[in-house]
Amino acid sequence: MEADFQTPEWVCELMAGLVEGQPGIILEPTPGKGNLVKSLRNKFPSTQVHAPNCNFLQLDPYNVDVVVANPPFSPMRMGYEMLYRFFNFSGYVIALMPWLTIINSENRLEKLKAHGLCEIIHLPRRAFKGSRVQTCILIFKQGHSGDILFKDVCRGQNND
Ligand SMILES: C[S@@+](CC[C@H](N)C(=O)[O-])C[C@H]1O[C@@H](n2cnc3c(N)ncnc32)[C@H](O)[C@@H]1O
Repeated sequence: MEADFQTPEWVCELMAGLVEGQPGIILEPTPGKGNLVKSLRNKFPSTQVHAPNCNFLQLDPYNVDVVVANPPFSPMRMGYEMLYRFFNFSGYVIALMPWLTIINSENRLEKLKAHGLCEIIHLPRRAFKGSRVQTCILIFKQGHSGDILFKDVCRGQNND
């Protein structure tokens, strides 16, 4: 796979720390150079962390306990396609996505709510070096239909 923006280490640790419980199998579907896989394996040494070395869009779905991912979003539709595909593997998904994912289409937001969007974590604009794309981590738990928790980890950062 072509290497593009790899997930910054502190964001990988944040994402690994968001995984609840002791999952049996975690899927990192777009591992790239493996930063996120490393954080997940450090946090869960006795868990199987699957990081398939293939085109995720051609991977046959199977059941995992949680998908933790930072899909490519260039082009944006690729990121959306992947996000929807994650739900074929698990109802519990933690995905780093562009902020646009939740603000530029009411239809998309409604679809994401139907997949159990339960938490939005706003990341600093400078989270990805060399890019100013505004990003967030979205957490989905199938069946969730209550309030959506919003957290902001931008405070204290130079976020021009
Ligand atoms: C935003 S990066 C995230 C990388 C990784 N999560 C990390 O820990 O740094 C997205 C990654 O998805 C990979 N990728 C792009 N298209 C893919 C595909 N169809 N299947 C699997 N991986 C893909 C790219 O190579 C890139 O490394």
